[in-house]
Amino acid sequence: MLQSPPSSALASPSRANNDPSSDAEKKPDSYDVLPYISRCFAQTHPDNLAVAARLRGLQPTAIDRCRVLELGCASGGNLIPLAATWPGSTFVGIDRSAVQVQQGSQLIADAKLPNIQLLAADLMEFEGEPGSFDYILCHGVYSWVPAPVQKRIFDLCQRLLSPQGVVYISYNTYPGFYRRQPVMEMMRYHAHALGLKNPREIVQQAKELVTFLINSAPDSDSTTVRLLREEAERLAKVPDSYVFHEHFEADNRPCYFYQFMDVASRHGLQFLDEAVAKGGAAGLPEKAQQALAEIADDVVRYEQYVDFIRNTAMRSTLLCRSEHALSATPSQEVLRDLLVRCAAAPENPAELMGGRLLEDRPVKFIARVGSAQIEHPHFKALLLALYLARPCAMSFPQLCKRTMELLGRAVPTSEIFEMALYGHRAGICSLHTQSPPVTQRVSEKPCASLLARVQIRSDNTVPTQWHMAASLDPLRQALLSLLDGTRDLAALHAALWSEIERGALVLGGPGGGPFSQSMPPRQLSEQLRAVYLPKALASFAELGLLVS
Ligand SMILES: C[S@@+](CC[C@H](N)C(=O)[O-])C[C@H]1O[C@@H](n2cnc3c(N)ncnc32)[C@H](O)[C@@H]1O
Repeated sequence: MLQSPPSSALASPSRANNDPSSDAEKKPDSYDVLPYISRCFAQTHPDNLAVAARLRGLQPTAIDRCRVLELGCASGGNLIPLAATWPGSTFVGIDRSAVQVQQGSQLIADAKLPNIQLLAADLMEFEGEPGSFDYILCHGVYSWVPAPVQKRIFDLCQRLLSPQGVVYISYNTYPGFYRRQPVMEMMRYHAHALGLKNPREIVQQAKELVTFLINSAPDSDSTTVRLLREEAERLAKVPDSYVFHEHFEADNRPCYFYQFMDVASRHGLQFLDEAVAKGGAAGLPEKAQQALAEIADDVVRYEQYVDFIRNTAMRSTLLCRSEHALSATPSQEVLRDLLVRCAAAPENPAELMGGRLLEDRPVKFIARVGSAQIEHPHFKALLLALYLARPCAMSFPQLCKRTMELLGRAVPTSEIFEMALYGHRAGICSLHTQSPPVTQRVSEKPCASLLARVQIRSDNTVPTQWHMAASLDPLRQALLSLLDGTRDLAALHAALWSEIERGALVLGGPGGGPFSQSMPPRQLSEQLRAVYLPKALASFAELGLLVS
């Protein structure tokens, strides 16, 4: 139910400031009060940064012996899995919120990781050794801090980055963010008018306001109602901590890409690439493509016009030192050293295996974000080869061989390189410099990482070996926690069944697997052993949760 604002807030317009930060009293750190749900982001992986650097002709430090810094790391949800997977590298995270750093430090101790340290410190005070980091990550911070901290982020990147190093910074961008701004401002006004202080109450009221406004509008098809509906959908999908910090932090300062790059160049940094492919000119009307091609030499202008056309609301930009002359297209030598991995599944794999491969008809491949219709048999075969090898990556010689086997004919290596590069840029396959320890095979005594086993005890979401977040139901959570490499199928079954018998786990119902409440215990136990466990283990392998 929407609360009424206190009458004083309505009576005095001067108090109806939409900025809740204007209250003079000293507030506790908002991230201590409502910690962020800290997760891993594949696009921040040093490997993704290293690939971008290699494609532009740099020689970044190998990811198995590099030094990584994360600015605003929260409780280390992004950094800790990297440290677990790459024990030869060192990781430092900084965050002002002591509560979040304490949470992360506990996980580091539980997962026995010697190569990572989280520091509870303000970025304004952190110094660090010049040139001491090969990869600097700053995800979800830049747009939500005051201008002096934004400048400090760039100062630190300029001073601490190694010569061949890569910086990752994500931020909200105009013009796309203008779409979200009015709803955000209404929610901020409402929270302020009600004098709310408690973050959970603020989020609750924000959601109610959006529903109230959608239901109250005289024209249900107006632009405002469409924006409100978009926001309502977003609000329903994300945790309260995200809603609060995204919309109600005192600072929220999106910028245009050219403004961001202006600050970057004043700090001796240049544009390397986007960490998440933005599509560039691909798929735009021909006239747009021609116009963009004419300004392709001026990368900042080019990217800015792409943002205008695509109404970009967020970027994850990669930067390197300005003194490097970057190559426009990667050489075959560079590509030959990389690995390729599946990032899109065919809609109907069986059909593809059974002859559709050689037809010129399009086949739908579904990626994490969106899908692609692939027509060319060679490209279909390449994507199928990667799909069959998932979650493992393939070297180029392996990929060439397998693609040709599936097709039953030869394909020039240069074409394989071209398709893999195109696929990487389109988000339907991904390039890597190294593979983490990951296996496709469910061994006799399957093993998940110690970190995943520790984390899954208190969280339903764990990082895969490829640094992607995987959410599991309670039964799979219990199963994953048992995968320490000492238990075979019978032992896993016995351990799970004893949990079920003592009532700690329930079969059937939401998150309880494909079991019927009417099955007698013997049948349930057999179903668990013979059907559920093999399937669940195969799904762990497919997700990249099993280590080799
Ligand atoms: C929106 S959260 C993002 C956390 C994490 N990077 C992620 O994307 O999941 C922003 C983080 O920046 C931290 N932060 C904000 N201002 C800071 C400052 N001046 N010094 C250090 N950390 C800061 C906050 O404590 C918070 O954990």
